[in-house]
Parts: sequence; C-alpha cells; structure tokens
Amino acid sequence: MVSTGQTGFTIWFTGLSGAGKSTLSEAVEQRFKQHGRNVEILDGDIVRTHLSKGLGFSREDRDTNIKRIAFVCGLLTRNGAASISAAISPYREAREWARQEIGNFVEVYVKCPLDVCRQRDVKGLYKLVDEGKIKNFTGVDDPYEEPEHPELIIETDKETIAESVQRLVSKLVELGYLD
Ligand code: PPS
Repeated sequence: MVSTGQTGFTIWFTGLSGAGKSTLSEAVEQRFKQHGRNVEILDGDIVRTHLSKGLGFSREDRDTNIKRIAFVCGLLTRNGAASISAAISPYREAREWARQEIGNFVEVYVKCPLDVCRQRDVKGLYKLVDEGKIKNFTGVDDPYEEPEHPELIIETDKETIAESVQRLVSKLVELGYLD
C-alpha cells in the first residue's frame, strides 16, 4: 500500500455498540500512519466529550452528532486527509446526509450480532441496559438501521482484525483512494 498523498476520503464505520468500530479505527490508523498518510479518527465516544458535549441519544441529538462529525470529516477530506468516523450512526438518513456532505465517502458496516456485542460488553453498558439503568440503547430498545449498500461489510465475529484491515485497504485501492 502506498499513499497517494492527495485524495482525501472518509471511512464511515457504522454499527452497534461493541461491534468493533473503535478497534478497527485504531488498527486502520496504525496502518495508514506506517505509510505516511495523515489520518484523524472521530470516535463517537470521544466526540461526545467536546464537540458534541451535552447531546443525548434521542434521534434529534444523534442526528446533530452525526452532522457535526460529518462537517469535520468533510473539512479533513477536502484537505487531503484520511478521516475515520467511528460513531454508531444508526439512522440511514443521517448517513446519507453525511455521504452527500463529504463526497469521498466509504461506508463500512461493522456487523456483529447483538448477542455477541452483549457477550463482549466491553464497557459494561449492556449490563446496565439489562438492569434498566440505560434506556434507548441502540439495537436493544432503540433502532439500528442496517446499511443497504455499504461499500464494505466487516463481520467482526467472523474475521480477524488483520483480515478486516486488509480487506478495507483492498477496497480503498479498488475505489482509487490508495495506490
Ligand atoms: S450515535 O448514535 O452515532 O450518535 O452514537 P455515538 O456518538 O457513536 O455514541 C455511542 C456511544 O455512547 C455510549 N452510549 C450509547 N450508545 C447507544 N445508545 C445509548 N443509549 C447509549 N448511551 C451511551 C456507548 O458507549 C457508545 O459507544 P460505542 O463505542 O459505540 O460502544
């Protein structure tokens, strides 16, 4: 893999909490950095501590969050960086909005069955959901609209991180974003 150094693009990971969006983002970031590519991750969890501080998880707030992330990804993309969004982004309409806003947009569905996400329970949130302490949790009692035509589907319960990163890099080459 060689970076073209010019064409910016955004990798838009979408998927349930615990599906592996953040882990994949970091692995892709490492791979890009090794090849001298400027890269920025906008992780839902982190964005919500500053850019989207104070937003909750209503549809309106989630849409606002996605629009803010898309705005920043658009700026980075226009300036030749590789930007990575790692937010659940559960609504198709908001993802389509992001696609239009950004342009060079690679939607990657980070697919993992809810049961597996529950078992992983990396942050202990599913336990809190089961205890009734968190409401409107995506995939449990709040919607997750699966992508209909993503550029790539990564099934994190079926492939290793290295395999997923390699498949994504191959897709980026196929789309003309990487040499
Ligand atoms: S969204 O829907 O795209 O605006 O969500 P995002 O900004 O990615 O934030 C998701 C993270 O917030 C935590 N969390 C919740 N997720 C979903 N539903 C509810 N109700 C909720 N409450 C808190 C959770 O840690 C998500 O992080 P990830 O990394 O996806 O596990």
